[in-house]
Amino acid sequence: MCMPAKDKTIPSLIKWTGSKRKQAPLIAREAKSYNRYFEPFLGGGALLFLFAHEGAVASDIYKPLINLWKLIQSEPEEVISDYTEKWNALNVEYKQLQLNHIKNSNGLPKVFYDCRSRFNKTHNPLDLNFIMRTCVNGIVRFNGEGEFNNSFHLSRQGMKPEMFAKNVRIWHERIKGVYFECQSYEETLAQAKEGDFVYFDPPYADSHNRYIKDLDLQNFFTELDKLNSRNISWALSFDGSRAGTNYFSDMPKELYKRKLSLSNGNSAVSKILNSKQEEVTESLYLNYN
Ligand SMILES: C[S@@+](CC[C@H](N)C(=O)[O-])C[C@H]1O[C@@H](n2cnc3c(N)ncnc32)[C@H](O)[C@@H]1O
Repeated sequence: MCMPAKDKTIPSLIKWTGSKRKQAPLIAREAKSYNRYFEPFLGGGALLFLFAHEGAVASDIYKPLINLWKLIQSEPEEVISDYTEKWNALNVEYKQLQLNHIKNSNGLPKVFYDCRSRFNKTHNPLDLNFIMRTCVNGIVRFNGEGEFNNSFHLSRQGMKPEMFAKNVRIWHERIKGVYFECQSYEETLAQAKEGDFVYFDPPYADSHNRYIKDLDLQNFFTELDKLNSRNISWALSFDGSRAGTNYFSDMPKELYKRKLSLSNGNSAVSKILNSKQEEVTESLYLNYN
């Protein structure tokens, strides 16, 4: 049986909206020992860093994201050199923008916007990596056509390549034995057995357009119920509150045994939408005591 690692911080790797990087060590403290780990709403996989062991299954419905995970696993040096090349080109252009005192740089820097257009045509995971790291507040956002539409973060240039390289190599070591799958969460759950542990971080009910796919809540609750009858332990990050306003969904009481409230720091999404920072807390539901 395995237990999660005890690291207090998670190296930043894949920028993903709704990331659990800050909460991950708190959530890991609540885990039971487990045989295999399953993370069916992977995103930036903050929990995966602590829970990954041989045979873990990590999945997401969004293909370019899973392709990026697979590249970090199989070709870390290619991921590093691609980011370094793009970052260096961006840096040259960025310095030029500053020299020319361009404040309203519509369509600039070209390195970022060309990369974004290319990604929206080809879905190359390396392009996704670069625009995620350099867009406004690192917020991954799509329009109705599923195109990445966040802009360049004018006052930041993204993580320095040396730091990025270090983080990629650390993560690469951690995820060596993990199976990455692009599939819907139900397919992933079908592989879980008694003794396994599942961590869920589904999209918020109100997160339309932030991710590629919204969640059918009734179907999701049915899947949790099935896990309960198969004696599979799970933890679920779900609803919560932001700046004193509650965003609770009707989580059926018979599905879980414990509910905790964890702080997730300030909301990057609300910061960009309302230009103010708001304290966010999220609920963690557990189906065991
Ligand atoms: C809140 S994010 C996960 C964030 C992650 N815990 C982290 O730390 O970065 C939710 C993820 O669920 C994925 N998703 C949405 N609907 C899905 C579905 N039906 N099956 C599998 N994944 C889905 C989205 O693509 C998104 O990456």
